[in-house]
Amino acid sequence: MRISVNVAMSIDGKIASSLREQLVISGPSDFDRVDSLRAECDAIMVGVGTVLADDPKLLVHNDELSSRRQESGMSAHPARIIIDSNGRTPDDAQVLGEGARTFIVLSENVKKERVTELENSGATIIISGEDRVDIENAMGSFEDFGIENILVEGGGELIFTLVQKELIEELTAYISPMIIGGKDAPTLVDGEGFVDNFPRFSLVEVKRLDEGVMLRLKKENK
Ligand SMILES: NC(=O)c1ccc[n+]([C@@H]2O[C@H](COP(=O)([O-])OP(=O)(O)OC[C@H]3O[C@@H](n4cnc5c(N)ncnc54)[C@H](OP(=O)(O)O)[C@@H]3O)[C@@H](O)[C@H]2O)c1
Repeated sequence: MRISVNVAMSIDGKIASSLREQLVISGPSDFDRVDSLRAECDAIMVGVGTVLADDPKLLVHNDELSSRRQESGMSAHPARIIIDSNGRTPDDAQVLGEGARTFIVLSENVKKERVTELENSGATIIISGEDRVDIENAMGSFEDFGIENILVEGGGELIFTLVQKELIEELTAYISPMIIGGKDAPTLVDGEGFVDNFPRFSLVEVKRLDEGVMLRLKKENK
């Protein structure tokens, strides 16, 4: 299993404003770069906070990239995975729409009726964890569905768990020369944060892109 993360953030590390609404942080070249990352993966993963805030479709935009996937025997779009302990994904969320298969990872807490409703909305359900989704435990199920290569697109809470569990192989971040500010605005890594043994990554690429810069980092070898 290979997990990589991609986000766009402001120079103050924010991935959205305190309104938690979808915000354009990067530019056209970065959109193309992200589309290529999507086209290379087996599944795109987000937390339910991102689904509720942004209502994304999580599809590959460029038809040529989709066609190339199909030519190599893959589906036109990667699968979509939502990490959602309590089944809060709305039945009419765009991520449940046509184009790609959608997996929702729920905890054992979720009532049977809600599981059935989400299945009826088109999702394939995976149950993992008692009260909160246990992402590591769900990995085996992803592999059973042929998912080996996951691109995580946010948000900060999900990324915190992945950093904490040392599950991220590669992290790419577009940094825009804008300031969003606000102590309640989501950042690249939220959750409880760290007070010691701060996780580190190795910087492998720096590239000027649009008005900002793209950083590519890899898991630090211990
Ligand atoms: N700029 C960018 O590139 C970018 C990309 C994506 C999102 N965003 C922004 O990020 C914000 C959303 O981020 P967010 O941090 O609020 O939400 P998030 O990380 O997308 O989702 C977090 C939610 O996932 C659920 N979850 C279940 N199991 C979990 C686990 N083991 N670890 C972590 N989370 C788990 C939790 O809800 P339950 O307890 O209900 O399960 C948690 O509240 C939005 O404002 C969006 O616009 C920005």
